[in-house]
Amino acid sequence: MVRIGLDLKIQSEPYASVNAGQVQQVLLNLIVNARQAMQPGRMLTIVVSENLDDGMAEVSIKDEGTGIPAEVLPHIFERFFTTKKSDQNGQGGTGLGLAMCKDVMESHGGRIRVESAVGRGTRFTLRFPMVAAPTFGMKTNSSPKRTSQQDTSSVAETPLV
Ligand SMILES: Nc1ncnc2c1ncn2[C@@H]1O[C@H](COP(=O)(O)OP(=O)(O)OP(=O)(O)O)[C@@H](O)[C@H]1O
Ligand SMILES: [Mg+2]
Repeated sequence: MVRIGLDLKIQSEPYASVNAGQVQQVLLNLIVNARQAMQPGRMLTIVVSENLDDGMAEVSIKDEGTGIPAEVLPHIFERFFTTKKSDQNGQGGTGLGLAMCKDVMESHGGRIRVESAVGRGTRFTLRFPMVAAPTFGMKTNSSPKRTSQQDTSSVAETPLV
């Protein structure tokens, strides 16, 4: 087992409307890739922030791993592209992880970006469109009065994901 350090920096707490299961898969793939690229004792840094200028929430995952050569970089989001060869147990990479990450980010109206330097490490940045903070409190005096004809079944205060 490779033991690495983790530095988690929550610089702000932006809201985005996401499919949580899909985004967990994206984060898991990026973290596993980072861990596999690193020697023991290196640091994984995860930063959550928001960019108020363009209204995007950002999550970056930075490793101190091998880095990705410039000639390889254009191919890493291609389906079935992998540099992790099968061993005798058949435990190579499928090369599907980053293709899935890209699909999920695009289906959220977001983007995934990569910066890398050989021998120094790699940073992937996820960008999601921000939404307004949900209001969880009960409204007592500002709701319009309902008549018997109104259908209340689809009334929701927060956007449904
Ligand atoms: N953090 C990283 N550091 C160095 N190389 C990386 C990193 N992340 C991805 N790569 C490169 O991109 C390739 C594609 O990554 P992807 O996650 O799509 O597939 P994989 O990790 O090889 O296979 P799987 O995700 O099925 O285990 C990897 O094989 C590796 O060469
Ligand atoms: Mg992977």
